[in-house]
This record gives sequence, C-alpha cells and structure tokens, in this order.
Amino acid sequence: MNKIKSGIFGLNPLLDGGINENSATVVIGCSGAGKTTFATQFIRRGLESGQEGIFVSLDENKEQIIREAVEMGWKSIVDYIEDEHLVFIDASGLEFSTFIKKELPSFVADWKGANARISIDPLTPVMWAVTDRYEQRELIGFMLKETRKVGTVLATLEEHGTAGDLSGTETVIPMYLADSVIHLKSYLDSESGLQRKLKIVKCRNSRHSKMEHKYSIMKGLGLVVNPGGARTPPSRDVPTQVRKMLEENKGRIPSSVHQRLLEVLEELRDEDFMEMSPEDIIEEIITEYED
Ligand SMILES: Nc1ncnc2c1ncn2[C@@H]1O[C@H](COP(=O)(O)OP(=O)(O)OP(=O)(O)O)[C@@H](O)[C@H]1O
Ligand SMILES: [Mg+2]
Repeated sequence: MNKIKSGIFGLNPLLDGGINENSATVVIGCSGAGKTTFATQFIRRGLESGQEGIFVSLDENKEQIIREAVEMGWKSIVDYIEDEHLVFIDASGLEFSTFIKKELPSFVADWKGANARISIDPLTPVMWAVTDRYEQRELIGFMLKETRKVGTVLATLEEHGTAGDLSGTETVIPMYLADSVIHLKSYLDSESGLQRKLKIVKCRNSRHSKMEHKYSIMKGLGLVVNPGGARTPPSRDVPTQVRKMLEENKGRIPSSVHQRLLEVLEELRDEDFMEMSPEDIIEEIITEYED
C-alpha cells in the first residue's frame, strides 16, 4: 500500500507513515473541531508535491474557503487556483447528490488516473439530501468508489448530539464505507478549558495508533498532533524471538505451517503481539498442531 503524507503535522507516524493512496478517509468532528482546516491542509500537501487538488465545499463558498485559508497563513492558495492545479466545486447537498448520480461518472472519466487529492467538506448535507437509509448507503458508496479512481479522498462529517456518540445513521454509514476514520474530539472541560484530542477509529490495510492524541490548531500551521509515545515504542523484538523459538521447535509443527509462519513474521512488529510473550505464542502454535 502506497502511503501519502497527510499534511497534518504529527499525524503520519500514527498512520504508519501516512494515508493510503487511493483510499477514502472520513474525518468526523463537532463544529469548530478543525474539519475544514484538516481538509485544506490535506489538499495543500498534495499541491506541494505536484498533485492536483479538488475541493468540494458543501457549506461555504469558494471565497470564504480562500479567505480562511489565507487567514491561516496559506497565501499561495490563490496561485494554485490561478494555475488550475486546485479546482473548487461549491454546491448544496442536493446539487452535489444530483451531481454524483448524473455527472460523476463522466467527471471521473475525465480525471481518471489523475492522482489528485479530493476533499469533500462536509459530507453531511449530501447524506441529508436522501432520506432513505438504503439510498444513502448506495449514494455514498458509489461516490467513494468513483472518486477513489481519481485519487485519494477525504470527506468530513459533522458530529451532532452528545459528544463522542458516533452511532447515528448519518455518521455510521460513511464510517462503514470509508477506509479510514479519524475522530477529532473537541470539547470544553470545566476545569482545563478547551480540549482537543484526535483518535484514529479505523484504518484499513494499515497499522495505526489506537490512542487519543492531543492536537491544537495554530495559525500558519493548522492542525498539529502530538504523536506522544506512538513514534518510538520500546522494542521487545518479539518477531525475532518467535522466529528463534520456531526453529528450535521445528519438528513439532508441520513444515508447511512452519514455512508460512516464518514468512508472516517478516511483516509483524512488536505492537501486533500486544502483551503476549514469545513463549505464549509458541506454546499456542504447538498446541494447535500437536496431536
Ligand atoms: N486564523 C486562525 N488562527 C488560529 N486558530 C484558528 C484560525 N482560524 C481558525 N482557527 C481555529 O480553528 C477552529 C475552526 O476550525 P475549522 O473551521 O476547520 O472547524 P470545522 O470543524 O470545519 O467547523 P465547522 O463545523 O463549524 O465548519 C476554530 O475553532 C479556531 O479555534
Ligand atoms: Mg468547516
């Protein structure tokens, strides 16, 4: 899986190097959590590496987004638009849902293989444009499937109701369909004031941090995540120890299994074994195959 840099400082180590290319990520958060900033940073990072950018804005117009981006310290956004590396689509939820159904395939045909970055901010009004749950799923599923052909997709989702409750249909459906889900938790704590914490809820085909990480939003930098201990966990080197013990117990495991396990171990790291010791793992493998 090819990784691309997210553009969010401190986030890449939490995603094992970055966002998977041609995947779809959903960033969910309440108002003011930093969704638009995230979507803008993601696009900007792509433009910096020579990728094309498509920004689909569902509730702010192009001018507002540009003004906020400049305010955040990204003046060159204007040049990227002028040079046509960055394309803006501003539409209502209803307009965009019609676009998905009627025009998306021909749009994708034009852009196919473009290796672009696409931000959709926020996806929520598109969900609202359709009332039937089955239809919502079809629409979002189709949109993600098609846009992934054009590049790497990032859609933001509004978090309504109780903070941290992600169980409503309008959040659950896109979360299921996306390859990765990032939750921006932003709330007021009566004692310590504004708290911002980022959590990777899921990330298909990649290792990722399971912890909450503090983040802040700074002028000129945007979202900055504190990777904390995720960067360099203390090494136990479990795979090497398991490999050694496998060799020692070779006669007790079928040779085809032994060979497959050796191959599998190449891909594994300490964190995959959680708290298990190499002795426990070997014990379980031997018990499984010994008569
Ligand atoms: N110029 C700035 N300098 C510092 N912080 C800023 C600046 N502009 C915005 N912020 C911070 O970023 C937050 C808003 O970020 P953003 O607009 O990305 O949130 P959002 O999740 O998209 O919100 P909404 O759901 O209302 O659209 C603000 O609450 C503020 O704390
Ligand atoms: Mg926003």
